[in-house]
Amino acid sequence: MPVWDPNLYLKYADERARPAADLIAQIHLEAPARIVDLGCGPGNSTEQLRRRWPNAAITGVDNSPEMLAQAKAKHPEWQWVLGDIETWNPEPAVDLIFSNAAFHWVAGHATLFRGMINGVAAGGALAVQMPNNFHSPAHSVMREAALSGDPRWAKATVAVPNTLTVHPPAFYYDVLRKHASRVDIWETEYQQVMDGPRAVFDWIRSTSMRPYLDRLPDVEQRQLFEELCLEGIQEAYRPNDQGKVLFPYRRMFIVAYR
Ligand SMILES: C[S@@+](CC[C@H](N)C(=O)[O-])C[C@H]1O[C@@H](n2cnc3c(N)ncnc32)[C@H](O)[C@@H]1O
Repeated sequence: MPVWDPNLYLKYADERARPAADLIAQIHLEAPARIVDLGCGPGNSTEQLRRRWPNAAITGVDNSPEMLAQAKAKHPEWQWVLGDIETWNPEPAVDLIFSNAAFHWVAGHATLFRGMINGVAAGGALAVQMPNNFHSPAHSVMREAALSGDPRWAKATVAVPNTLTVHPPAFYYDVLRKHASRVDIWETEYQQVMDGPRAVFDWIRSTSMRPYLDRLPDVEQRQLFEELCLEGIQEAYRPNDQGKVLFPYRRMFIVAYR
């Protein structure tokens, strides 16, 4: 399980908030009584859910104590639970199971999505957003750094983590349609304007680089890995005359109704 740094994650809070807002805008539920935000992180997505449905009972669930501490500090009166998405069991059935940018950390999506949609109460919905950006240069750079024979890197090869999994839309449609009255799936590629390649590096360092860094035993190796990634990012994302970089970011959205 990667160790999360809530402050680094929140550095791009606006860019990270938009997909959750876009997902919430497409959830056609009047007044869900019980909502669960799985992988709630520091509580930003939970805040958006609270704004949309102020009277709902909302529980934020996350397996990172650091992220939950941040969420609790902001909203001590809300319900936060330390728990794992993989083993989480809705009891009783909830009206909205919501997850923004977390399910891609969990393997076994057929079982996961089947379990989730069956955990939704009649008339409720499962709403999920996952990054689907794993073929971008940013990810290639990390894979190449992990497998590279760079002399500074020496023998400390890093196994490429395999938990960041997102399948094609048809996969989710097939799994969900048997248990849902309606399934709505779409993808959006956000064209994020970043303050240069360093900002792209910081973005991935706070999320998808965590599993690589966590596999490296000492600080020196982690620093080397980061250096290699930064070099690759600088190569792949060239700044324009104002120092800005366009960082395309594709995300998949799923809303399935019971
Ligand atoms: C990218 S953050 C998203 C946070 C929040 N939903 C938002 O929209 O800002 C991903 C979160 O998923 C959590 N997470 C990852 N794998 C998890 C798991 N198996 N069980 C529970 N939480 C998990 C991480 O701890 C992290 O807080």
